[in-house]
Amino acid sequence: MQPVHRKLILTLLTVLVFPLCFDPNEAEETGSKHFVLVHGAWCWYKAATLLRSSGHNPLRDVMEGLSPCMSKRYPKKFAVAVFFSALMPGPVLNVTTVNAESWRRAGSLEDSSYIYDNGPNTPPTAYTLGPMLLASRVYQLSPIQDWTLANMLMRPQRLFSDEDLTREITLSERNYGSVRRVAVISEDDKLIEKDFMLWMIERNPPDQVLEVKGSDHMVMMSKPAQLLALLQHIANATHI
Ligand SMILES: *[C@@H]1O[C@H](CO)[C@@H](O)[C@H](O)[C@H]1NC(C)=O
Ligand SMILES: *[C@@H]1O[C@H](CO)[C@@H](O)[C@H](O)[C@H]1NC(C)=O
Repeated sequence: MQPVHRKLILTLLTVLVFPLCFDPNEAEETGSKHFVLVHGAWCWYKAATLLRSSGHNPLRDVMEGLSPCMSKRYPKKFAVAVFFSALMPGPVLNVTTVNAESWRRAGSLEDSSYIYDNGPNTPPTAYTLGPMLLASRVYQLSPIQDWTLANMLMRPQRLFSDEDLTREITLSERNYGSVRRVAVISEDDKLIEKDFMLWMIERNPPDQVLEVKGSDHMVMMSKPAQLLALLQHIANATHI
């Protein structure tokens, strides 16, 4: 069971954790905000365009890696972290527990494929989500063009072991609490379902909970206008 467990956990963390942060300290007098879009630059193409045309400054792919780790390392740089359908570990609810629960809930990843760089009898080192899974549980409410784009641009994602994750994401109360957190639920997400978000929210309460109606897992693809409005709302409500 361990290798399978590891696969899924890592899939969810690396693909699904895409918080969005901004730093009002750097905002100019103009009122423009800097947004850091984490995880996979291309999937933000709609949201980044909308942010830019609204006078904001989307920073593409500024930091690689796992976002809770990011706001832990740079707690002073971020005014708020927004978790869109993302795993949300915290000081009490650790990453191992969140992983185990996500694995238990997500079930089979259908036609996704795995890469075994260290040999066939060792745990996988990378994975690629399959077209069927993307169609049925990731992009099911997004324009079909975005599903096509995803299939063309999808590259293997590195997998992290439980040990790597625990080392990277051990969250202290002090630093963790210094970054305001907003959890955003996608109503019709079939990968990180609403029930699972509520489960994490209950055990690791964020400062605010919002919901995007009619969104699949890829809120930036299925509901880009709602995403922009929500980000502007969060940005307006955040004071330093
Ligand atoms: C994570 O939390 C669970 C449940 O509280 C605990 O059993 C486990 O030892 C913790 N793991 C780590 C790495 O802290
Ligand atoms: C955010 O603030 C700007 C500037 O004050 C305003 O134009 C905009 O309507 C506000 N948006 C939301 C969603 O509150």
